[in-house]
Amino acid sequence: MDFKYNEKNIGFLKGRDFLKLLDYTPAEMEALLDLAAELKYKKKNGIAHDYFRGKNIALIFEKTSTRTRCSFEVAAYDLGMGVTYLDSQGSQIGKKESIADTARVLASIYDGIEYRGFGQEIVEDLAKYSKVPVWNGLTNEFHPTQILADFLTIKEHFGSLKGIKFVYMGDARYNMGNSLMVGCAKMGMDFVACAPEKYFPSADLVAECRKIAEETGATVTLESNKEKALKDADVIYTDVWVSMGEPYEVWEERLNDLYPYQVNKEAMNMASEGAVFMHCLPAFHDLNTGVGKEIGERFGYDALEVTDEVFESPASIVFQEAENRMHTIKAVIASTI
Ligand code: CP
Ligand code: NVA
Repeated sequence: MDFKYNEKNIGFLKGRDFLKLLDYTPAEMEALLDLAAELKYKKKNGIAHDYFRGKNIALIFEKTSTRTRCSFEVAAYDLGMGVTYLDSQGSQIGKKESIADTARVLASIYDGIEYRGFGQEIVEDLAKYSKVPVWNGLTNEFHPTQILADFLTIKEHFGSLKGIKFVYMGDARYNMGNSLMVGCAKMGMDFVACAPEKYFPSADLVAECRKIAEETGATVTLESNKEKALKDADVIYTDVWVSMGEPYEVWEERLNDLYPYQVNKEAMNMASEGAVFMHCLPAFHDLNTGVGKEIGERFGYDALEVTDEVFESPASIVFQEAENRMHTIKAVIASTI
């Protein structure tokens, strides 16, 4: 790749929180993606970028993680920083100490704080009381760092974001559906939520995204008919049908409602030639996981939201997408600290 360095983007959002994409302009998002591409180039070519030696960040995870935690840790190490990982078992957070007090303590020790947990209001509260940047590592409502990785991956694959028809299949009213809809609206893409009506994003958020779309040339469509939704799709995206923190009891209803929206060969064939499959991961594409095996065997399925055939096909770019979590998270840290 012929890459033009653009180091001015280091620190271009100094002091800003990264809580949801609604807070960011399309130009800022584009600049974050450019910075991520630059940092990826440096990492791949062994070019040092440890601009933040002597700085430290805290990572709070009230829900489990593989990609997000590892990405924040490696990104911080590459930038020359120290890292502390905190979970709800091994710290006072939530049980013995409020979010407001935790924010003030951590902000006096660290230069930035990542938070993964439940309601969006918690990370917003943390940011309110923290004098250092706070980054949202996933809440029930939004997962903004994931969307930067998804968009970097789409840019790498298709060359640009504008005009891409992006179809999200499954539970479109949770963190992934919500954030992807906002991201697509901001970047001038054609977003379609393909699901039964009760799984569409909230009317308020749809209205907000349609307003953004008027400025950017994006479209936001809610469509239960698979054939209509998938026609000419460039990207088919899905996520688990039951998210972290949701009760086990909802599985049966979700399977009944969302199984018709499984991403399988038939769905891929309805999209445009050259369409790609994406997933934030982890994915239930076979029965080689504890939950996949239990649910699959109990209800008689060999895969849940995506078939193994699609997941393992050349159209699947999920591992490139997962790698890009690290490069994009690094861009968020390096631009806001
Ligand atoms: N996609 C994602 O956020 O993965 P983790 O839950 O492993 O962090
Ligand atoms: N919707 C999923 C996303 C995981 C990255 C969850 O919240 O569990």
